[in-house]
Amino acid sequence: MADISQIVIFGASGDLTSRKLIPALLRNFAEQRFHKPLQIIGVSRSARSDVEWRESLDEWIPDDLRAAWSGFAPSLSWRAVDASVGEQTQGLADHLEALAEGRTANRLFYLALKPSLFAPTIRTLSSHGLLDGPKDPKLGWRRVVVEKPFGRDLPSARALNRELLEHVREDQLFRIDHYLGKETVQNILSFRFQNAIFEPLWNRKHIESVEISVCETVAMEGKRGAYYDSAGAIRDMVQNHVLQILALVAMEPPTSMAADAVRSEKVKVLTALRPMRPDQVAEHVVRGQYLASPVRDRGYLEEEGVDPASSTETFVAVRAQIDNWRWSGIPFLLRSGKALHKRYTEVVLRFRTPPLDLLAGPSEGEHCALRPNDLRLLIQPEEGVRLSFLVKRPGPGMTMVKSELGFDYSDLDAGSSPPAYQRLLLDAIEGNATLFIRGDEVEAAWAFVDSIRAGWDQEDVPMFGYEAGSHGPEEANNLFVGCEGTWSIGP
Ligand code: BG6
Repeated sequence: MADISQIVIFGASGDLTSRKLIPALLRNFAEQRFHKPLQIIGVSRSARSDVEWRESLDEWIPDDLRAAWSGFAPSLSWRAVDASVGEQTQGLADHLEALAEGRTANRLFYLALKPSLFAPTIRTLSSHGLLDGPKDPKLGWRRVVVEKPFGRDLPSARALNRELLEHVREDQLFRIDHYLGKETVQNILSFRFQNAIFEPLWNRKHIESVEISVCETVAMEGKRGAYYDSAGAIRDMVQNHVLQILALVAMEPPTSMAADAVRSEKVKVLTALRPMRPDQVAEHVVRGQYLASPVRDRGYLEEEGVDPASSTETFVAVRAQIDNWRWSGIPFLLRSGKALHKRYTEVVLRFRTPPLDLLAGPSEGEHCALRPNDLRLLIQPEEGVRLSFLVKRPGPGMTMVKSELGFDYSDLDAGSSPPAYQRLLLDAIEGNATLFIRGDEVEAAWAFVDSIRAGWDQEDVPMFGYEAGSHGPEEANNLFVGCEGTWSIGP
């Protein structure tokens, strides 16, 4: 039985490692969440000493973790390895053996790398026996964590899945979507299935539409332009984060919280997303690019690293349909964008109106009755739940006013929500894959996204401009039809 867990981070000189991974590991250490001692091995092509690496991380250590850092830092060591050079990988293998108790040490390989390096790195690790553990995985395991993006379309995601699965089993692969590490995203499942009052209403009979918005104020800060220009909002946010939230909102109850029980239900929803025909895309999808405005002196096309003639979208809104028993005919309105007016992620379930308005009487013509009831799951930065309804205003007659019941996470005596990576790293070390994406989930999400992108490629679909700091292109409002309302403006 292994007494030590080794975390080998490839791409350790990158931003993700210093900003997220090390602070997350350290916080788990400070909270004594690890059952076994850890050895953390930073791997990158550049040479540095263990001490230099530790010193470079110093600025990222939050003040409340300073005391724990001095106890934790000695477990960090550095190896300069170019995975395309055989002897260097062999050197890493020897180093890991020397650090630990040989084959029975647990090993987590974290690929914080450019996606093009995922497959070659796994191939090299495999050919040097680094992925071979003891025959009985209980004696010492090997796991691989893969960062996003996982492919850039369905064919590349499939090819990557195939290639990785030649070297590791699916249960050894942990594909990250950091949104699943957020407490409020996990709460979607708990809220739905641990309360008896909401689930009976959670279907097409009672719900008229579902909105999922992931709005950001950030644009191309830092040196993001070049990466982003090859991705765009639909690949960068919708394929992963937005569709993961959708899957949790729309899935059937799993038979347990075991990884495959939950993930199988999510896959069913994602595969039930109706793919669009190219000629339907202009009607059901709105895309846009931000323009310079009083709040930002550059538009997207003027950003560093962005092609001035780019057709990459920084905003996308989709009217999606899920073809299953629970949701048939109910629009799922999805939206994500950069340089918007406000940062918030929110799910809004809008309930149908009562069958008859007893106060106003039968309505004639085009009049839209007020939709009194919606349930809003606030994911970030405000974290909570809001349920709205009508109440009678005191006084003569019957005047109704909209009111709200609310819960805020900040009212719980539980401190602030732990960072997403803290939970995800701990789960990967403990072998709990519930909050990681299975290969078929990734593929199902790409199939839907690809159908939209095919429309953009094949048809003449407009790219709308929107002012940085605005709510996005006006045209996105047209995705709501009839009396369905309009996009939420956030809490
Ligand atoms: C990342 C995207 O996956 O998520 C970024 O690549 C985006 O473009 C980020 O800004 C948003 O994450 P969060 O946790 O800040 O909402």
